Amino acid sequence: MPTHRLARCHNLEDLRREARRRAHPMVFDYLDGGADDEVTLRRNSRAFADYELLFRALVGVDAVDSATTVLGTPCAVPIIASPSAGNRLFHTEGEIAVARAAAEAGMIYCLSTLSSASMEAVAAASQGPKWFQLYVWKDRGLVREMLQRARAAGYGALILTVDFPVTGNRERDLRNQLLIPPKIRPRHVWQALTHPRWTLDYLRSPAIRYANLSEDQPAASLADFVAAQLHAGFDWHDVEWLLGEWSGPSLIKGVVRADDATRAVAAGFNGIMISNHGGRQLDHSPAPIDVLASIVDAAAGRAEVILDGGVRRGTDVLKALALGARAVSAARPYLYGLAAGGHAGVRRAFELLTTAVRRDMALLGIRTPAEMDASFIRRLSAPASLQQDTRT
Ligand code: LAC
Repeated sequence: MPTHRLARCHNLEDLRREARRRAHPMVFDYLDGGADDEVTLRRNSRAFADYELLFRALVGVDAVDSATTVLGTPCAVPIIASPSAGNRLFHTEGEIAVARAAAEAGMIYCLSTLSSASMEAVAAASQGPKWFQLYVWKDRGLVREMLQRARAAGYGALILTVDFPVTGNRERDLRNQLLIPPKIRPRHVWQALTHPRWTLDYLRSPAIRYANLSEDQPAASLADFVAAQLHAGFDWHDVEWLLGEWSGPSLIKGVVRADDATRAVAAGFNGIMISNHGGRQLDHSPAPIDVLASIVDAAAGRAEVILDGGVRRGTDVLKALALGARAVSAARPYLYGLAAGGHAGVRRAFELLTTAVRRDMALLGIRTPAEMDASFIRRLSAPASLQQDTRT
C-alpha cells in the first residue's frame, strides 16, 4: 500500500477501512467479526465512552514519559500486542511484520499458538520482548514440546487462554464458509478479483498453515480444527500441572469474574488479562473496562492486571490505567494495519496508538503512567454508550 495512503490514516477506523478495501471479505470478516449478534464486540469499545477523564491543570508536561514495565519487562508504552491467530491470512508478512513493528515501537509482542509463522522464525526475526500464548492441545506431549520450544526460543512469559474451550458462533465465517488455509471456491472468485492486491499476495506466497505444528493440516473451519485438536476438558486441576511445566512468569487470559481472578492468583499466575476474546466467544460477556476495578480488587496487588479488548484510542489506555490496569493489550488495531499494508501498516497502527497515549498523558496532566490514579476518572451515571452512537 502506498505510504501516502497510510499517512492519511488518522485513526484506527481509517486503517480498518483500508484493510477492508484490500483484504478478501472472507478474511476481513474473520478479523473484524465477533460471535452471535456481536453485542460484546461493539460494547468492548463503546463502554469506554461511559467514563470521563478529569484532567489536571498546570502540571508541567514538557517531559512526558510513557515507559513502564509489565511483569518486570520494560516497555515504551503500556500497550501489549495481544496474541492473534493466522496473521498470514491478512498479509503474507504476517506475524513477523507484527513482531518487528512491536519491537520498533518498544512493545511486548505475544505470539499465538495458532500463528502462521513458527515461534522460532518469529524469534529469529525480532529481538524485542516476546511472550507465548498457549491453547491446550489434547496431546499433553505436544503441550510440553511447545513449552520447551517457547522457552528455548526466548519467549519470556506464558499466556494461558481460558475463554476458548470451544469456538464461538461466528456467523460471518459460516456464511463465508471460511477454511484455514483459505480456499477460493467459485463463490469467492468475484471477491478475489475485486481485491487483487490480497489475491496476488495470497497466490504468490507459501501456503498458510499453523506453523507451530509439524504436520500439515487439511483445510478446516476453525471450529472443526479446535474441536478435533484442543482440550475442552482442561480445568483448574490441569492448570497446576501446566504451571509446573513452565518455570517463568505466567498470565491467564480470558477472565471477567473476580472469583476467577482470586483463583488465578492462588494458582500462581503473575498476570491476569481481562478479556472476552475480542467479542469472538461468548456474546453478552461484559466489556473489560466495566469489570476492571473488581478484578484489580480481587488481585489485590498479587498479580498485574491487563485490560484486553476494545482499545482504539489513547484515552482508552489511560482509562484502563486509572482503574488499576498495569497495561492494555490489543490485536485488532495492528491486524487492521497488517491487512491494510503489511509491516508499514502495523507500524502506522502502533504509531497512532503510542502518539495518542503520549499526547493524552500531556492533556491529562500526568508525566508517567505511575501518576495515573482513580482521581482522574469517573463513570457517568447515565451511560453515554447506551444513549448515542459514540463508536462505530
Ligand atoms: C480466534 C482464535 C483462534 O480466531 O484466537 O479468535
